[in-house]
Amino acid sequence: MPPGEPLASRFCERFGLSVPIASAPMALASGGRLAQAVSAAGALGFVGGGYGDPEWVERELALVDPASIGVGFIDWAIAADPRAFELALARRPRAMFLSFGDPRAFAQRARAAGCAVFYQVQSLSQLPWALEAGAEVVVAQGSEAGGHGMDTRATMSFVPEVRDWLDAHAPATLLLAAGGIADGRGLAAALALGADGALIGTRFWATAESLAPDGAKQRALAIAGDETRRSRIFDVLRRKNWPREYGFRAYRNEMHRRWEGREADLEADPAAARAEFDAAVARGDFDIANVTVGEAVGLVRDLPPAAEMVARLAREARAVLNRLTRVS
Ligand SMILES: Cc1cc2nc3c(=O)[nH]c(=O)nc-3n(C[C@H](O)[C@H](O)[C@H](O)COP(=O)(O)O)c2cc1C
Repeated sequence: MPPGEPLASRFCERFGLSVPIASAPMALASGGRLAQAVSAAGALGFVGGGYGDPEWVERELALVDPASIGVGFIDWAIAADPRAFELALARRPRAMFLSFGDPRAFAQRARAAGCAVFYQVQSLSQLPWALEAGAEVVVAQGSEAGGHGMDTRATMSFVPEVRDWLDAHAPATLLLAAGGIADGRGLAAALALGADGALIGTRFWATAESLAPDGAKQRALAIAGDETRRSRIFDVLRRKNWPREYGFRAYRNEMHRRWEGREADLEADPAAARAEFDAAVARGDFDIANVTVGEAVGLVRDLPPAAEMVARLAREARAVLNRLTRVS
């Protein structure tokens, strides 16, 4: 990639993008306005269909041109209730993003409807499912990531190892790096590690269009990267029955610190803590309610419009790559 050229990649070519970035499908945070703004800026935006609330998905998809965005779902949740998945599929989105469980049946449906399938993995052991699902894009998610994931791998070594595996088994399959990428340095690093682009969550959570509560976004501006943890605590408080292998990374606030090491006690008798949590959500108290961010929150210091964020990531990554090219 000569200096000065756009950040072209196979991901850009395949999806007609000018910037090799996708914004993550983030349950309750990435609605139609965010996804549309990201796509209009030359990247690929995803609506976070999450647990599959049909009303939420219908409302947010009414705000977008489905042909220009993707939709993401949590596999184990849509396996229990596929209504929102079906509703999204009927709108013919550009891409369907599947995570956290067996993607194969949903992927088959999505491909038959003409959607490109993205599948997010947290370990090498999940890659055969990606191929069986016919995923065009594999997303390698390191443990740094905000929201749900696993403690299995860090982005730095996971991405090149997935690249090598794909080169050996499915060289046409595209790869996005996810987890800890929030500025041009991270985007340049993702490309250097062999990814075709980056999937970015936390940094787009902290934009003007994100549906995250304003108080949570304001709080995030002061959180350092050291101050997040992955655990089951907020899942128990939110009554989300996640499979054991996944944990939820969020700001390590007062409520989180209180229950660390005592998750079993919380699960055994959650009623009082849930009532306290619900009240905190209602009044926007983020010492108690969750602020869903990953380690990259330490790089988040403003809340720009998403289009500005896309342009900034591209500009910064270009500058990093130019500098490195000059050094060589
Ligand atoms: C607020 C939030 C909600 C998320 N919700 C989902 C989701 O519903 N489905 C999903 O596949 N991934 C979800 N993720 C994880 C992202 O897909 C992605 O892996 C992650 O954001 C990348 O790491 P980063 O946050 O450091 O950019 C979520 C992440 C965040 C921050």
